[in-house]
Amino acid sequence: MASMGGLDLATGVGGRIDKNDVLSAVDKYEKYHVCNGGKEEERKANYADMVNKYYDLVTSFYEYGWGESFHFAPRWRGESLQASIKRHEHFLALQLGLKPEQKVLDVGCGIGGPSREIAQFSYTSVTGLNNNEYQISRGKELNRIAGVGQTCDFVKADFMSMPFPDNTFDAVYAIESTCHAPDPVGCYKEIYRVLKPGQCFAGYEWCMTDTFDPNNKDHQKIKAEIELGNGLPDIRFTSQCLEALKQSGFEVIWEKDLALDSYVPWYLPLDKTHFSLSNFRTTATGRLITKYMVMALEKMGVAPKGSGRVQEVLEKSADGLVAGGKHGIFTPMYFFLARKPY
Ligand SMILES: C[S@@+](CC[C@H](N)C(=O)[O-])C[C@H]1O[C@@H](n2cnc3c(N)ncnc32)[C@H](O)[C@@H]1O
Repeated sequence: MASMGGLDLATGVGGRIDKNDVLSAVDKYEKYHVCNGGKEEERKANYADMVNKYYDLVTSFYEYGWGESFHFAPRWRGESLQASIKRHEHFLALQLGLKPEQKVLDVGCGIGGPSREIAQFSYTSVTGLNNNEYQISRGKELNRIAGVGQTCDFVKADFMSMPFPDNTFDAVYAIESTCHAPDPVGCYKEIYRVLKPGQCFAGYEWCMTDTFDPNNKDHQKIKAEIELGNGLPDIRFTSQCLEALKQSGFEVIWEKDLALDSYVPWYLPLDKTHFSLSNFRTTATGRLITKYMVMALEKMGVAPKGSGRVQEVLEKSADGLVAGGKHGIFTPMYFFLARKPY
């Protein structure tokens, strides 16, 4: 795994946004959200702009703090964060029953951490679909470094309208990405269309659990913080995702909130009360050091103006995620395995 330094983080803030426009982009991004008077309809109508702004702004922070895979994982006692992340990816390959030479689609692939891992683990070819140009350029560079150019590639497109013919892929998976869809049925129907009949789609969805009470002010605040901190239009209930899969034509083989069985809580790496040397950068102390480093680099003109504001958005995100996990009202790992019938 190629490891990112503080200078890479600073110069990467803003992604494809002109460095002089980063501050106004953060402003515009924040205004989409409830905490700043934004409305759900506007977030859904402008989802592509909102999500792309978000990932342009945060990708270098993600890569610096979390690595090449941008997702959470259930964790066993004694297991490192990085090992749990890889195991969570292998679990998808296992559930999909991947066989060598198969053509697999990774929907909303980030910078390709999972697609490189799954292609190498299962001897398949994985196409990463992503609407964010900056992440694709980072992903291509990381593919080159890892030497996986023969088996991994990227396509820049919106998962609401994919540039592939019907019945193209032997398997499809989505890791913590389709939560960005303005309409889950529209997104799942596209996945259904490009998947071969009889083949499977597996995913990890970000969801509110049945414990979430839409009338509870604290719960509402936590949900809004998670949406703001993660570029989300509206987090759906697990039951809504399940229903959307069925409405799209899928036969659901099994589904489960994997957070319920995680020995180590998935949110622990972000919890302020937790300290770990092995994932130091995600801890409260690590994040504080990153904050001061980014502030200094912003003052020196190395990081674009607005970088500190991006870090604040991510801090809110961490607070919301930890609170959502502790209250049991939110999960980032609602797993499902679904088949497209013949
Ligand atoms: C939390 S990241 C997860 C990335 C990746 N699955 C991983 O685990 O590393 C969500 C990803 O979904 C992508 N995404 C969001 N909306 C999208 C859309 N409409 N079309 C394609 N990709 C999208 C983002 O650009 C980002 O790469």
